[in-house]
Amino acid sequence: MKIYVPMDAAAKALGADRVAEAIARETAARGIEAEIVRNGTRGMIWLEPLVEIEHDGERLAYGPIAAADVPALLDGRIDTLGPVAEIPFFARQTRLTFARCGLTDPLSLADYAAHGGLEGLDRALAMSGEAIIDEVKLSGLRGRGGAGFPTGIKWDTVRLAHAPQKYIVCNADEGDSGTFADRMLMEGDPFTLIEGMTIAGLGVGATQGYVYIRSEYPDAIRVMRRAVEIARGAGVLGADLRGSGRAFDMEVRVGAGAYVCGEETSLLNSLEGKRGVVRAKPPLPALEGFLGRPTVVNNVISLATVPVIFARGAAQYAQFGLGRSKGTMPIQIAGNVKYGGLFETAFGMPLGTLVNEIAGGTASGRPVKAVQVGGPLGAYLHPDQFDTPFGYEEFDGQKALIGHAGLVVFDDSADMRAMARFAMEFCAVESCGKCTPCRIGAVRGVETIDRIAAGEAAAVELLTDLCEVMQDGSLCALGGFTPFPVMSALRHFPEDFATRKEAAE
Ligand code: NAI
Ligand code: SF4
Repeated sequence: MKIYVPMDAAAKALGADRVAEAIARETAARGIEAEIVRNGTRGMIWLEPLVEIEHDGERLAYGPIAAADVPALLDGRIDTLGPVAEIPFFARQTRLTFARCGLTDPLSLADYAAHGGLEGLDRALAMSGEAIIDEVKLSGLRGRGGAGFPTGIKWDTVRLAHAPQKYIVCNADEGDSGTFADRMLMEGDPFTLIEGMTIAGLGVGATQGYVYIRSEYPDAIRVMRRAVEIARGAGVLGADLRGSGRAFDMEVRVGAGAYVCGEETSLLNSLEGKRGVVRAKPPLPALEGFLGRPTVVNNVISLATVPVIFARGAAQYAQFGLGRSKGTMPIQIAGNVKYGGLFETAFGMPLGTLVNEIAGGTASGRPVKAVQVGGPLGAYLHPDQFDTPFGYEEFDGQKALIGHAGLVVFDDSADMRAMARFAMEFCAVESCGKCTPCRIGAVRGVETIDRIAAGEAAAVELLTDLCEVMQDGSLCALGGFTPFPVMSALRHFPEDFATRKEAAE
């Protein structure tokens, strides 16, 4: 008998380690021969710890399970949820990037290969750099970190640059509120990221890679480090990739906890051991990146999507999605919802379907007031915008962004003026201080919102002006995008900005 208990950080926070210990104790006491596999999460957080028991090849799910439930679980006195694939939240997904997450043992390379792993790399090893990049271009893959820049074009810029050394840097400094896809992927299927980075290296001619992981992710750091060692030991990394004579190796590096180090140039400074301050662009990192060399900087999900594109073929991947938003997106659902977790789906699903059907509406049972999409720099969307399909251009048309695809849902008790103030305060705290619109503007933003709160109606115009200056004049997305949450709150929820005097009238 095989029993799967996730070792994902979210499942562990909900007691998965205690459940695994209880299962080990209880099966030993009963003389049951059981292999306990610590898998990644299936992404349904409200069911964690989600235990799966495999009998005669059939894997049945139970959850949430507490350590105290284990005797009843082994007695067969707890109802099963059925196979994971039949749980409605899971059944509606299209799992491409996350196909193996939760299914396999994250640190078993054999399990990885048995579930389609390394097929993409083997195909890429037989291709030229140019052909690899053509395949990525054909897939339509765009940067999943938030900006949506075409991955193939970025890679081609690095490929065509002349330099003695090039690098692949994976941005795993996942700092957006309500996002966890990078962490889940690294903890649940780390070889996918290694494979994706290796294919990127083959494409652009880089032989060295770095995964820059935020220090707040100790489990992801541990799993990634171990996976790199295993891959190197098996010839999946190193000087002779799978006997091809081609080389690529990588290291895990740990950040120190600044939000702005998720910005690529700041990340590169930090990786070089310097203070995490934003660099002016140009030069683009693709031409002068890590140590001044041409560097691909991509988010975890962008790189982890590459293996499935090569395994299935770019044309098949590009069949999913909507318009210029090709393929699937792992959407992270959080905040005041009934069903929070990771939902991978083809681009195009309307926001309202995600919030009301997939997430099941609010956990509080109160009406949804707003959804912030794209982290702390993302706009607040009103239920009137719920028809908007999930896609880069579609959100842009709503003065919003999908960012790293985190959804944070609020019910009607949320005070949107307080949320706008929080956005400015967040920017003030996290600003790297390099440019004036952000460094000074965010502080003035907090003060201006406080003036509105104190009854100074004219300060609303000042806030609008300030947001325009920050948006146009900031050097990076932190200062440049903070106006999105502020202005969307002001636009869609003006009643929350009414001064006490106006409200009284
Ligand atoms: P950007 O639009 O300046 O650049 C996007 C990417 O394309 C960069 O890697 C850039 O170097 C590259 N690029 C642009 N032109 C190129 C060219 N001609 N050739 C090759 N490469 C080229 O956006 P930025 O500032 O990198 O990212 C902003 C986004 O980051 C926002 O949309 C926001 O949603 C997201 N974000 C994500 C966070 C997370 O935790 N994942 C946190 C904060 C922001
Ligand atoms: Fe630094 Fe803010 Fe300017 Fe970005 S916008 S460079 S975080 S001061």
